[in-house]
Amino acid sequence: MSSLIPIQFQTFDVDMMAQAEGRVAIIISDEGKMGPAARRANRLTRGAVARLVESEQFEKVKSGEVITLAWPGGMAAEALDILILPRRPDVAEARKAGVALAKLAGGKALLVMAANQTRSEDLAMGIALRSYEFDAHKTKDSDPAATVTIAHQKSDEVEAAFAPLYAIADGVRMTRDLTNEPANILTTTEFADRLAEMKDLGLEVEVLEEDKLEELGMRTLLSVGQGSVSPSKVVVMQWNGGDKGDAPLALVGKGVVFDTGGISLKPAGGMEDMTMDMGGAGVVAGTMRTLAKRKAKANVVGLVGLVENMPSGNATRPGDVVKSMKGDTVEIINTDAEGRLVLCDVMWYAQERFSPVGMVDLATLTGAIIIGLGHENAGVFSNNDTFCDAFLKSAKAEDEGAWRMPLGAAYDKQLKSRIADMKNVGGRPAGSITAAQFLQRFVKEETPWIHLDIAGVASVASETSYAPKGATGWGVRALSRFVQDNFE
Ligand code: BES
Ligand code: MN
Ligand code: ZN
Repeated sequence: MSSLIPIQFQTFDVDMMAQAEGRVAIIISDEGKMGPAARRANRLTRGAVARLVESEQFEKVKSGEVITLAWPGGMAAEALDILILPRRPDVAEARKAGVALAKLAGGKALLVMAANQTRSEDLAMGIALRSYEFDAHKTKDSDPAATVTIAHQKSDEVEAAFAPLYAIADGVRMTRDLTNEPANILTTTEFADRLAEMKDLGLEVEVLEEDKLEELGMRTLLSVGQGSVSPSKVVVMQWNGGDKGDAPLALVGKGVVFDTGGISLKPAGGMEDMTMDMGGAGVVAGTMRTLAKRKAKANVVGLVGLVENMPSGNATRPGDVVKSMKGDTVEIINTDAEGRLVLCDVMWYAQERFSPVGMVDLATLTGAIIIGLGHENAGVFSNNDTFCDAFLKSAKAEDEGAWRMPLGAAYDKQLKSRIADMKNVGGRPAGSITAAQFLQRFVKEETPWIHLDIAGVASVASETSYAPKGATGWGVRALSRFVQDNFE
């Protein structure tokens, strides 16, 4: 498990600059306006900062960029990072500036002379998000966590504004850790144990074991895990920060700790990436952590279906017919279309038990969504325009890509089975949509519902705007805001 970089806030004082070690950052507005820190840096470096501002290079520099003076004369620091940022940046601009500083600092000590910069809390958020590193399995001792210091004229105000953001960053961290973790470590049991630990944060956590799932009739979920030696589990996490008795929002996550494809085995190339097939459950876990840590005034229940999809003598075969908790039967044509089989039972259970005011499911569900939207946007499917628009607004505000896709009766027809109520695949055309249609068959008419296909955004091969390569934690920020703006 990784930990978040410590960030502290101090009252701004230009006398901090000369002796500070590590890196010192100052901020200059895009018009070249120098504040007190820039003026002091200029004096210490005998005019280097002013010469930069007057140079041709400065005319071409873009907002959010950093120009570094290495080993600046007159300072103890090893680098002076000059960040170009408007006086009033928007949230994404401020966070991306923090990202730029964090990338340069690489985990070493950093003093940001923020003076009276607006949105300094978002700058700190960018630093927190981008300083993440998954080094749990590197045996080389990592350096002790260096501290980031934000020096601001109103440091108390900035620190207070940063507190809920740090709770979000910690949720993102948890999601990334879970999603990056290999499957021999993050078994279904280990996953459930890590969720149970969140009881310490005030969450109510229940682990439903196989005998209970059997009793509930969750045969489609159990059919996915029956080839694995790891037992299938459903974990229910409740955060009751709202009014007593108010129906909760339900978050449901696909938690396939490894997806070999089962008897419909995947090809060897790239199969190792299927350690991230629990990414949806990871986002649900990270969001619940965030809500608890920032003491959200809302009732939210998170449910995850934890299974491993393995081939074995006990595994489900193509052609098998299984009955869902709802009672509908499914002909399993392809054992690699397993996520929907897990989700449909958990979604049905969520509605039967909690009658939620709305339900959002998250899943690394289809390769087809990557063909359609790449790694920039998650696929969004919904039965309710108002509910969906509210989520899209939250995702946009958090700069997390989300793009709505259609649903429709014609797509649903692709799921017709000769011998059962439905098949688990609808053929190649519109693969992500038919997967969503399958899920919709398990959504009650009165439940506002959003399905997020995060196969393309949960974990990526190159760094993103806010994350290094690997797990991104996509969705935690959007969902936390969605809860805040609509349910608190
Ligand atoms: N977990 C995969 C989807 C996936 C693919 C996630 C790539 C992340 C990256 C899912 O269970 C799956 O195998 N889907 C199949 C469905 C098909 C058999 C209808 C797919 O997309 O090929
Ligand atoms: Mn699969
Ligand atoms: Zn899968």
